[in-house]
Parts: sequence; structure tokens; C-alpha cells
Amino acid sequence: MHTTSDAVVSAVPADVQDFLPLNGTDYVEFYVGNAKQAAHFYKTAFGFQSLAYAGPETGVRDRASYVLVQNKLRFVLTTPLQPDNDIARHITEHGDGVKVLALWVDDARSAFEETVKRGAKPYLEPVTEEDEFGTVVRSGIHIYGDTVHLFIERKNYNGPFLPGYREWKTAYNPTDTGLLYVDHCVGNVGWHEMNTWVDFYEKVMGFRNLLSFDDKDISTEYSALMSKVMSNGNGRVKFPINEPAEGKKKSQIEEYLDFYRGPGVQHVAIATNNIIETVTALQDRGVEFLKVPGSYYDTLLDRVGHIDEDLLPLKELGILVDRDDEGYLLQIFTKPLEDRPTVFFEIIQRKGAKSFGKGNFRALFESIEREQALRGNL
Ligand code: FE2
Repeated sequence: MHTTSDAVVSAVPADVQDFLPLNGTDYVEFYVGNAKQAAHFYKTAFGFQSLAYAGPETGVRDRASYVLVQNKLRFVLTTPLQPDNDIARHITEHGDGVKVLALWVDDARSAFEETVKRGAKPYLEPVTEEDEFGTVVRSGIHIYGDTVHLFIERKNYNGPFLPGYREWKTAYNPTDTGLLYVDHCVGNVGWHEMNTWVDFYEKVMGFRNLLSFDDKDISTEYSALMSKVMSNGNGRVKFPINEPAEGKKKSQIEEYLDFYRGPGVQHVAIATNNIIETVTALQDRGVEFLKVPGSYYDTLLDRVGHIDEDLLPLKELGILVDRDDEGYLLQIFTKPLEDRPTVFFEIIQRKGAKSFGKGNFRALFESIEREQALRGNL
């Protein structure tokens, strides 16, 4: 008599089976105006190490790419060598920015087929590449703006990065700063487009909406935005999506959209196990962070309760703290990393909390608005 319910129960796992299993972020690729100099900046300022290189010396004619690594974090910096290719056009339009959010998969062919079947626009048909270190399969789909996801299958590969790249060894190797891996990557999309991309991540990628913030959560006297956090099944890949909201003055998201000339990646959040040590090292090396007023710290412990860290270094460095049901987190945001007010980094240390610092939004956005006003864009 319970055959029917058995059937229902056994049908559930098949229904919820993840059609796009992701092992994590594989790398983030930036298209930049001068990759050689950008690589030096990321090594010097952020403590990345040299990993791999592709360019004319390796048989690539139209670009040069430098791969940097720090723990599980991999950045690729790519610059065009001619004016008439997609990389050059991307930089003319957007300035330096994120082109590729690459995802590490066990089956790049299936990742492509499953997402395209559900409506993704193809960017790269599955392609198998090999060299003396083995075989890699890559495929890709378009997401917001000119940004793409590449699916990277590297289970049969043990080279330094990907076929076509050679090991890049340098005499100049600054020490690392404790940056560990990508915690989340945030996309800014246009007016009324947030739910289109929430639907995309739900239907095409099989993600779920973890958290939502509306303009009442994220508004200051002047400007507002809305945000929804999308997460894959195992929680290793999280993509919050922001859209601007109406306020008295221009939203920071609108400023981004104006200068990036469309949707794109707003920030990459990078995890550390010791934010005080990491941010001390980054500031010593010249990385500039957004600062909140000192008064933020007067009432901090009333808001978040006991924390393990001393208050003084947090205040001196400008590190923010927020608590949720599961624990707390510490976070800080860099100023934009290029002259256009577009892409920046977040440094985050999680101590149980799985949220994104909602309690800091107001203080933080007022800080961003002070910078916006200095640029004449508020
Ligand atoms: Fe963030």
C-alpha cells in the first residue's frame, strides 16, 4: 500500500540531481590593457605567484596571457596584441575587466549540453586540447553583458595550467598575503534585469536563490540597489546579482554600468583565514581600501556581540564585521582596481557566517558614495 509513496520518494533524488555539478571556481580571467604590468601589480600588491604564460613565444599570435596563483586562487591576465580582435574590443568598451568566470567541472561536454539545452547562449563549443601533460576539455556559455562562463575539465591533465601555456618562472616572487580562494563573484546588471539573471542561474545553471536584499535593505539617503545571491548545489560557487534601484541620486550600480558601459563583474570576494594579517600586508603594499567613519566601531560590539579579534586593529585597518544566525564574518572592500570606477575586490574571513554582510551595507555604501561624489558621479 505504500508503493505509491515509495515511487514518489525515489523519484525525488532523480529530480533534484545536480545536472551541473561544479567543483569550484577554476580561474578568473581579466582582459587588461597591459598584462605584463598588471601581472607585476597583482604580484607586488596582492602577493600572487607566477604560474604560467602564453603568447608569441608559445605560438599564440593574437594575445599574451599571464597566469598568477595564490593558494587555490588563479587569475589570468590577458592583453591583445592586435587592435582588431575581441580582446581589444572588450577593453575599448569596458576598460580592464573580468571576461571569464571559469568553473571547474568533471565533464565540460555535459556542462555545455545541459546548460545550452536549458537556454544558455553558446560561447565555446566543447573543445579537447592536449599537450605532453595530458588532455583538457573546455566549453563555454554567455552570461550577463560580455561576460562568459567557461567549463574546464582537467581530470586528465597535470600541466601548470592549460595546454598552450608553459610554466612561467620568475626571479621576482613577493611573498603571498594569505589570499586563499574565490568566496563569491558579484555581477551588476541593468535596470529590471536582476530577475532575468536570477531565472538564468536557476533554470539554466540549476542554482538556487540563497538570499535576497531589496532597496529597503540596501539604501542610504541618496542611492539604492537590489541584490539576490545565487548558489550552486554544493555551495562552492556563489554569484550575487545586483541591479540599481531608484534613489535621490545615482546608484553606485548605475555609476558602474555607465563606466563599464553595461553589465559585468562588480567584485570578486577572496577568502582569507586571517583578515588582520592579510589586510595589514595588502595596505603595506599599497592596496587602497574603502574606509568607514571611526564611529562605526563605537557600537560595533553592541551590534555583533563577542568576536575573537581585538577591536583596535579592525578599526585601524577599517575591517567591517557582521553577524548572522550561524556566526560572524569580517570583510573589507578595495577601491576600484582601475581608473574607471568598476571592478574591485572584497577580502572576507568567515567565522561561521554564510551571509554577505547585510549589517554593513549602509556604512559601506555611504563610504562608496563619498568616493562617487569625489568623482562627480553622485
Ligand atoms: Fe561581496
